[in-house]
Amino acid sequence: MKYLTVALAKGRLAELAMDMFESIDMDCSEMREKSRKLIFTDEKNKMKFILVKASDVPTYVEYGAADIGIVGKDTLLEEGRNLYEMINLNFGKCRMCVCGKPEMKDKMFSVNNLKVASKYPHIAEQFFRDEKGQTVKLIKLNGSVELAPLVGLSDVIVDIVESGKTLEENGLEVLYEVCPLSAWFVVNRVSMKMHTERIMSIVEGFRERVKE
Ligand code: PRP
Repeated sequence: MKYLTVALAKGRLAELAMDMFESIDMDCSEMREKSRKLIFTDEKNKMKFILVKASDVPTYVEYGAADIGIVGKDTLLEEGRNLYEMINLNFGKCRMCVCGKPEMKDKMFSVNNLKVASKYPHIAEQFFRDEKGQTVKLIKLNGSVELAPLVGLSDVIVDIVESGKTLEENGLEVLYEVCPLSAWFVVNRVSMKMHTERIMSIVEGFRERVKE
């Protein structure tokens, strides 16, 4: 039997994804041991797991280097890859929001060339263009995005809000909610045809365990 390969987004989502796979009796013990290995095998179930940067999960899945991926909706929206989004796993829940200093709330949609910093330039640009008909100046950052409005790099940010603590501790707030986010189970289009039965049995197992 061929190995099915699963790409997991490194970090918190990977831990929660492992819980899911273990709940359907797959073996993630090798991956739980903190090591520098990148590929983990469950011989009994003929599964391989690879740990990759979140933004690379859709790439591995689209090209078929992984049959399955577990990744946040934020990454799927940003990357816009060609794959099947099979089930919303409903964990890793958070929100994509426009955030900034409170005084921006009333004026941000009327400012010309509003400066928007984000790790998600496509989501940000699309939101302002399609939903608000507004042209903005996008500034791509790779982390600690909340700094941008504090040091005058941008007027607002488009970023993930989970507990809201980062905003609160930096005197910023949610100005507008763009969309809710959570982890998704995604599948390569060819893999879905070649291994329908095996993939669907995983999907069914997960579906029973998805918490509303
Ligand atoms: C994410 C996100 C926010 C923060 C939100 O950043 O970009 O900064 O978490 O979480 P909170 O609402 O619970 O405070 P991450 O921790 O991934 O680090 P980064 O800023 O370096 O990307």
